[in-house]
Amino acid sequence: MAKRTIVTMPGDGIGKPVLDETLRVLEAAGFKANYVEGDIGWEFWKSEGNPLPQRTIDLIAEHKIALFGAITSKPKDEAFDELAPELKAKGLVYSSPIVGLRQHFGLEICARPCKTYSGNPLNFIRRAADGGVDEPLVDVVIFRQNTEGLYGGVEWSNPDEKVYDSFMSHPKFKQNFGTVPKEEISISTRIFSKERTENILRAGFEYAKTYGYKSVTLCEKPNVIRETSGMMYKMALKMQAADYPEIQLWNTNIDAQMMWLTKNPEDYGVIVAGNMFGDIVSDGFAGLIGGLGFACSAQWSKDGVAVFEPTHGSAPKYADYQTSIVNPLAMIESACMMLDFIDEKTIAKNIRKAVADVIAEGKVRSYDMMKMRGKPDVINNGAASTTQMADAVIAKL
Ligand code: NAI
Ligand code: MG
Repeated sequence: MAKRTIVTMPGDGIGKPVLDETLRVLEAAGFKANYVEGDIGWEFWKSEGNPLPQRTIDLIAEHKIALFGAITSKPKDEAFDELAPELKAKGLVYSSPIVGLRQHFGLEICARPCKTYSGNPLNFIRRAADGGVDEPLVDVVIFRQNTEGLYGGVEWSNPDEKVYDSFMSHPKFKQNFGTVPKEEISISTRIFSKERTENILRAGFEYAKTYGYKSVTLCEKPNVIRETSGMMYKMALKMQAADYPEIQLWNTNIDAQMMWLTKNPEDYGVIVAGNMFGDIVSDGFAGLIGGLGFACSAQWSKDGVAVFEPTHGSAPKYADYQTSIVNPLAMIESACMMLDFIDEKTIAKNIRKAVADVIAEGKVRSYDMMKMRGKPDVINNGAASTTQMADAVIAKL
């Protein structure tokens, strides 16, 4: 069979070392592929005025599957200041290339698994009834709608007359904001479409069915946000009754869920949510299984374009360390999600087993696992470097 081509996008900062180490692990696990590198991130904003060049979009369109490290984003004014001088007069406005990728390719399904690895010193523990401690086993996969809702980008400050007038035609707007000067109004919308809501619900239920999770929890706020969350809940009820009678549908409010996730996280299986609530609840669960060094994610479109990335950012303060100290496991886990996606499940399983063995053994631990503050001297104090973490995984393979 012809070798598959994977687009690699290291991006900025620690994106590069974690991706480099991940490619070594993939190689050692026997995964054969060609890699082409795609430009993305801050460097390209500064030098070309575009953090997501068209050539990168073309590469992804051609090859469909991409591994992405992380990018740096900065506020509007700083972004402008760092632009190359010859680009400054062009009226360019920075926007996040990762959000751009999601919108361009319609990467509407985002999956973020949060699973406890036994022996991880960062695992969440709680007080047990007998006064001792419990370490609940978390095995949750969050399905987050990735392209619409509150991150859909439909927003205004001081909206123009037409927009303002149509909002004024809504009785609640008139009642609550009718006396506020127009110039003092900012509006961010939360728009859900039926088709995409259906797609994220379907993805969650299908995953639960395939991997044997007993429940799907819809985590929204239908009693207050009646139109969007309310529509999603109604659709979930219908879908469960029609197609997934063997799976329980639970309904939680995002605020209560954030409280419950430290109380009984082991009770949850698949969680489905809109864009922002999915972002929130997935970070919450990630905190229970070791945080940013462990949190992986996948996002894909209905025509099979998929991008796999750790949840963490570019961690600029560690970017220039001579020896990289950050934990590559989130990126390695993201690559395992890629392997599952392209039906290389055995290799994915082998890598996950190797990671589990390294963590359980506890001999090789990055600084975050040793609860150290991230400084260059962590290596001298016994923490494993990014490369040593990958070496340990490779040794287990
Ligand atoms: P961050 O995730 O880059 O780093 C926050 C802190 O988490 C780090 O200082 C470090 O202590 C820890 N951390 C992150 N990754 C780690 C790893 N692999 N191993 C061990 N510890 C790790 O978030 P921050 O500092 O808020 O943002 C830095 C830059 O990254 C910003 O420009 C931000 O816009 C961008 N960002 C990009 C994302 C992406 O590319 N998807 C996501 C989040 C932030
Ligand atoms: Mg987030």
